[in-house]
Amino acid sequence: MNITVIGTGYVGLVTGACFSKMGNKVYCVDIDEAKIEGLKNGILPIFEPHLGTMVKNAQEKGDLIFTTQIREALDDTDIVFIAVGTPMAEDGSANLDYIFSAATDIAENITHDSLVVVKSTVPIGTGFKVKEHIEKILADNNSDVKIEIASNPEFLKEGRAIEDCMHPDRVVIGAETPEVFETLKDLYSSFVLNHDRFILMDVKSSEMTKYVANAMLATKISFMNEIANICEVTGADVQKVRLGIGSDKRIGYDFIYAGCGYGGSCFPKDVQALINTAQTNGYEPEILSHVEKVNKRQKMVLVNKVTSRFGDDLNGLTFAVWGLAFKPGTDDVREATSLVVISELIKRGAKIRAYDPQATEEFKRAIGDEFIESIVFTDNRYDACDGASALILITEWKELRNPDLKILSERLTENVIFDGRNIYDKKMRKFDFELYQIGC
Ligand SMILES: NC(=O)c1ccc[n+]([C@@H]2O[C@H](COP(=O)([O-])OP(=O)(O)OC[C@H]3O[C@@H](n4cnc5c(N)ncnc54)[C@H](O)[C@@H]3O)[C@@H](O)[C@H]2O)c1
Repeated sequence: MNITVIGTGYVGLVTGACFSKMGNKVYCVDIDEAKIEGLKNGILPIFEPHLGTMVKNAQEKGDLIFTTQIREALDDTDIVFIAVGTPMAEDGSANLDYIFSAATDIAENITHDSLVVVKSTVPIGTGFKVKEHIEKILADNNSDVKIEIASNPEFLKEGRAIEDCMHPDRVVIGAETPEVFETLKDLYSSFVLNHDRFILMDVKSSEMTKYVANAMLATKISFMNEIANICEVTGADVQKVRLGIGSDKRIGYDFIYAGCGYGGSCFPKDVQALINTAQTNGYEPEILSHVEKVNKRQKMVLVNKVTSRFGDDLNGLTFAVWGLAFKPGTDDVREATSLVVISELIKRGAKIRAYDPQATEEFKRAIGDEFIESIVFTDNRYDACDGASALILITEWKELRNPDLKILSERLTENVIFDGRNIYDKKMRKFDFELYQIGC
């Protein structure tokens, strides 16, 4: 099939590359000229394992074309996917400006009947509004082009995006006609040779499914962080409690690690957007509001542990920070806990030496001018520890999991570690490290 994907971010670029890998001809369209120019020259705008090779191979075969010219793409297309960003607006709702601007671009450039599929995460009812918006412009332009609408939310995880996209554990399709279901099932059949993985439903339920999936995962994380805080004040060990409850199949081991809060481009904005959707429909969502509140508080837990140990005035002290990305395997720092921890420590007078295997450049763009002068970024994990009073682990990249304790103790001025992901075990204590963990 010939496909256009509008928006060449994490989702658009990865799905575009995966569709092309399965033999489809894919146009990836973006309004960001620098991004498209870079992609044409083999420069990826994001870090994602295996993506570079896949893009390069597909480009060489002519199966993956990057362009800013939507007309060129749509003329040669059967299905148009919208994969633009839906960031959080100031009031917590999803900002749909990019969605409607993409819809306008489609309406003004489409010359034959097409299927438009919304892959971006959007509030319930958006698909129908996009259809109305396109149809109004087509009518104003006296066009007799017909469009169908579908919802096909994306469940990929940054850091494992290619694997998730090539081998999805489910493909949710929201549509209104059997023909649209069949078209999308055909497209995805090569990804899910087992057809049981298709979950077919109406457009609104499909839009809701994506929000509920993220809200459920965010709820598990905030729930466990709350339990960790209760363990800390009562003397129970949250690590043991995790194993105790995870062994119950109804609960499971996933997403019940205590930590220093969730971030990323999805959980915070999607939980907030669902809260906003509920409120605008007259329902006050108590659980979801508290999931958010607990997470905001959790991002401060490391800061509070540092000030309990070193005092509120951190002038004259330097801290090493390991991990800036919101999770391992990505360079994405949107809503990352590192942004909160580092800015709060600097506000109290501290200097920071920071290391991340991939996210340093993104972090520099995100942290803000008032803080950047207080941070030294290093290319090596141990260099970040030089002269620091303590090490603060925020993102559990694999290379940070088993550090050489001798080197750490030589580089740090005090043997103190704040472990925001509970990955270091008690052996640290044997080497006379003071180890502070979440829930302990
Ligand atoms: N990042 C994830 O892990 C993830 C996972 C699942 C779902 N989602 C959802 O997918 C959507 C996209 O997320 P993302 O992280 O890929 O966003 P992103 O911000 O990384 O990329 C969005 C891209 O869209 C482009 N764009 C904006 N308006 C455009 C227009 N009119 N025409 C062409 N291009 C346009 C931007 O320039 C940008 O390159 C969001 O709704 C998000 O919630 C994201």
